[in-house]
Amino acid sequence: MEVIIQPDAESAGLLAARIVASVIRDKPHAVVGFPTGSTPIPFYAHLVRMHREEGLDFSRITTFNLDEFVGLPHDHPASYHAYMDKHLIRHVNVARDRVHIPDGMAADIPSYCRKYEDDIRTAGGIDIQILGIGPDGHIGFNEPTSSLGSRTRIKTLTRQTRRDNAVEFGSEDKVPFHVLTMGVGTILDSRMILLLAFGAKKAEIVARTVEGPVAALVPASALQLHPQTVFLLDEPAAAGLSKIDYYRYVYEHKPDWQKY
Ligand code: F6R
Repeated sequence: MEVIIQPDAESAGLLAARIVASVIRDKPHAVVGFPTGSTPIPFYAHLVRMHREEGLDFSRITTFNLDEFVGLPHDHPASYHAYMDKHLIRHVNVARDRVHIPDGMAADIPSYCRKYEDDIRTAGGIDIQILGIGPDGHIGFNEPTSSLGSRTRIKTLTRQTRRDNAVEFGSEDKVPFHVLTMGVGTILDSRMILLLAFGAKKAEIVARTVEGPVAALVPASALQLHPQTVFLLDEPAAAGLSKIDYYRYVYEHKPDWQKY
């Protein structure tokens, strides 16, 4: 695990975009896993800017999103289809037939989820998966007690996660109870993982994720088992880490050839 601490969300978003851009430049057919939520917004803004100003080419990549609400049509403003279109897809030259976002309207959910897993495998597996983290330690929508070996499936959101998503829906009672989400096992199969966490309200869960025991109660803690995970934090989100000085020291002394 590598912990990188940046002064603020803006500079962390820029570094995340640089890392993803270098994956795409090295491997134009890269398979990229994308998250939604408020955290990655500066990251997407930088990817769009790099496309416009630096010619970053998305034309051959394949994308897989982590999750989607069950029962929301793609054009619903709170759907993750609409989010991805707004923040990335419509601004860059990604091929629409290689964009995969779980279909919350799927009629046969179990077979749809199996196909989502098959599609990831057929594409060659995810080269880099970007993640946010919920205050309860969810990644994707793998809520606490999710199996650490889970695959893409339907999940029930906790009361708190429904509350946290109420703004986008206008009120809590409009937030669906169910989502489709990649599993923890699906996420762990990615070759590289980049988790972004910003703000003081994420400090406690970041500390439990990075330095606490691996436990289904904190699904993100499973990332400790992954060989190439980077936690990209702003200062407030890093404040609860007991080894914070060590992470800074490691980053300062990183060999040039390992730098992003
Ligand atoms: C969204 C997702 C979630 C969010 C998490 C944090 O696709 O998978 O795990 O990353 O709920 O959300 P924000 O960034 O809004 O704090």
